Amino acid sequence: MECFEVTGGTALTGRVRVTGAKNSALKLMAAALLAAGRTTIEEVPDILDVAIMSEVLRRLGCDVTYERHEHGGGRLVVDVPEEPSTETDYDLVRRMRASISVLGPLVARCGSARVALPGGDAIGSRGLDMHISGLERLGATIDSEHGFLVATAPRLRGTTIWLDFPSVGATENLVMAAVLAEGSTVIDNAAREPEIIDLCTMLTAMGAQIEGAGTSTITVEGVPALEPVTYTTVPDRIVAGTWAIGAVMTRGDVVIERAVADHLTVALAKLTDAGAHVEPLPDGLRVAMDGRPRCVDVVTLPYPGFPTDLQPMAVALAAVSTGTALITENVFEGRFMFVNELVRLGASVRIDGHHAVVRGRERLSSAPVLATDIRAGAGLVLAGLVSDGVTEVQDVHHVDRGYPDFVEQLRGLGAKIERVRRPD
Ligand code: UD1
Repeated sequence: MECFEVTGGTALTGRVRVTGAKNSALKLMAAALLAAGRTTIEEVPDILDVAIMSEVLRRLGCDVTYERHEHGGGRLVVDVPEEPSTETDYDLVRRMRASISVLGPLVARCGSARVALPGGDAIGSRGLDMHISGLERLGATIDSEHGFLVATAPRLRGTTIWLDFPSVGATENLVMAAVLAEGSTVIDNAAREPEIIDLCTMLTAMGAQIEGAGTSTITVEGVPALEPVTYTTVPDRIVAGTWAIGAVMTRGDVVIERAVADHLTVALAKLTDAGAHVEPLPDGLRVAMDGRPRCVDVVTLPYPGFPTDLQPMAVALAAVSTGTALITENVFEGRFMFVNELVRLGASVRIDGHHAVVRGRERLSSAPVLATDIRAGAGLVLAGLVSDGVTEVQDVHHVDRGYPDFVEQLRGLGAKIERVRRPD
């Protein structure tokens, strides 16, 4: 078992560079399936989820190579065959929900797909209902068989789709299906995240006709075929936001190279309200904090609202701020699970449904804690940086799924953190 040993008490200072966004790169990799030939994706983060998606693509018959650069990102080349396999590996897909994003491209290009249900969701269950009903509206027939979702459609037809909720994954899958459908598709109440714009920009470079990316209504005019391209992934706003919140919590001064301030508007406004100095730079962002942060209420919402992926860091920030903060989670119902771990560090947090009431303390107190998911793990490490003594964060493979060179980057900012291996 690998753990992080975090010694509290050091301010984060210096420069850190963010590479491409995990949540974009994984979808760009799936989008490569839409065209035969070599697609090159730059600034792909060196993380476990990219390795899993590479393996998903290899099992579909693609040749995938990754050349890592010094800064935690790299060039990923996907060589897609004329006729990819249409069946994904059950065990791989179960390890990562994002692998569902191969469904749209496969059914659009090959006319069928057999994709394992991520996490064993049943058809029509919460989780995937919008992906499924959207593809059905495009003319696909979808069944669930032995843990696989089986989609068939000799040719998809353009249609109008209204999403019940602006789901990121459903919007992406439906756009990737619609680009090769016959006629035009309108996706209403679409997600507006920068990663959606990134995907649509790459698809447009491949020859797709898409309008409205980044708004709630996306219109896609289907084309017969797409061409492979070379494309650079958008910088990771969640990694950038993690370093920004870490700078404020530890009362440090950090320049986050390549961070896009416009992708973090609400989060940065919250940090300013907390008393931080936030300064957009020509190619990044500086965040500095002097003194103890003031508490700020946070409400997670689809983009451009405060990102749910930064909610654990917002709770950790509130735990050491002055006063009491109300943190409301509106996107994922189970996302406060990690709070039990934060409480082990002495945080004062009460959960009531999808609200957390956080009473700030001057300092937290180190303890062994469990990273329950990628972002919870990062939030616990930030909390460890403001705890007395040495905090051991266990199950850090979760963090490795989303943050390239997490320990090295934090050490570069002066944090005292080590990766250690313990017997299971
Ligand atoms: C993506 C991100 C994740 C981020 C989330 C919201 C990736 C790999 N992951 O996840 O980091 O936290 O966006 O910004 O990009 N839902 C349904 N039915 C559906 C689809 C979703 O009920 O068919 C629900 C989900 O259970 C969840 C909410 O909608 O409660 C939001 O999910 P969604 O936006 O789809 O998130 P993901 O694409 O899974």
